[in-house]
Amino acid sequence: MTKLAGSTVVITGAASGIGRRVALLAAERGATVVGWDLSQPGLDALVAEIERRSPGRAHGYWVNVADKDAVAKAGRAVLAEVGPVDVVINNAGVVSGALINDLTDEQIERTFDVNVLALYWVTRAFLPQMMGRGHGHVATVASAAGLLGVVRQTDYSASKHAAVGFDESLRVEMRRYAPGVKTTLVCPFYINTGMFEGASSRIPFLLPILDETQVAKDIVSAIEKNKQRLVLPSTVGLVPLLRALPVPLFDRVMDVLGINKSMDEFLGRRHEDESGVAGVASGETGTATSTKAGTEATGQLTP
Ligand SMILES: NC(=O)c1ccc[n+]([C@@H]2O[C@H](COP(=O)([O-])OP(=O)(O)OC[C@H]3O[C@@H](n4cnc5c(N)ncnc54)[C@H](O)[C@@H]3O)[C@@H](O)[C@H]2O)c1
Repeated sequence: MTKLAGSTVVITGAASGIGRRVALLAAERGATVVGWDLSQPGLDALVAEIERRSPGRAHGYWVNVADKDAVAKAGRAVLAEVGPVDVVINNAGVVSGALINDLTDEQIERTFDVNVLALYWVTRAFLPQMMGRGHGHVATVASAAGLLGVVRQTDYSASKHAAVGFDESLRVEMRRYAPGVKTTLVCPFYINTGMFEGASSRIPFLLPILDETQVAKDIVSAIEKNKQRLVLPSTVGLVPLLRALPVPLFDRVMDVLGINKSMDEFLGRRHEDESGVAGVASGETGTATSTKAGTEATGQLTP
């Protein structure tokens, strides 16, 4: 069991969506929460909300997790100012949502900077002290797209496959060298946070668009139980089994499920939401920059 009461939990991407919900739940369980994000208004709102109920138990740091040096500096600041960290939740993420020829170089680089390389910078900022203390927990929010490729996700799906490999290798390294440090991998289908606004499910009774509050509860519960892998909904857990099919048949099954048309109406997070996260408007998080423009430009994959 990973006990959240009395622990210190660092959550990246805590200003919005899943990160914000998980932060609130961890605080409810009695944890001290350290939120990292690019959205200062979102962080301020989160800290104020937690502090109202649990004074002194919330900290917000403006950190770009893609910036290696900034992450190392912020990691040292957290350890000095807040104290030892028990749980790290790698949650910050971005999506482009464009066909491969419509993606800009910057979008591809940003996707790998935030969704992949940041996993190393953030985890390594806290792992040595976890290993030294003989306990800790690293949770990584990947995606169902980490288990299969999807049209309009050549960058996102590849980055989430990397996140799955990151978690699995970290898990077995810790099992061998620091068994007190646990890991949890999270692979959800689409969630109604706004990040994938416009994405759809053809067969909602098998593949529902998930509710962010419920996903956050499931993540917190998985961490508390040291569950190694959380796949949501459970039907997505069949994907690795379907891989035994010949590739053309696998692709047909995904077509029947509507997976490869699920991004056709993708808009992403285009406007500033209530938590203050800026999308295209400021380009700050860059979660959907120029995606729709790319779609309108071609509407199909062009050379
Ligand atoms: N929403 C979905 O449908 C869905 C599905 C599967 C997996 N996921 C994954 O869940 C995680 C959370 O997604 P969400 O839906 O809550 O998205 P969200 O857009 O609501 O939240 C992401 C947060 O990450 C922050 N962020 C982005 N880049 C950052 C950076 N460089 N440095 C620091 N913070 C940064 C944003 O400011 C934002 O607050 C992501 O890793 C995402 O890939 C989401």
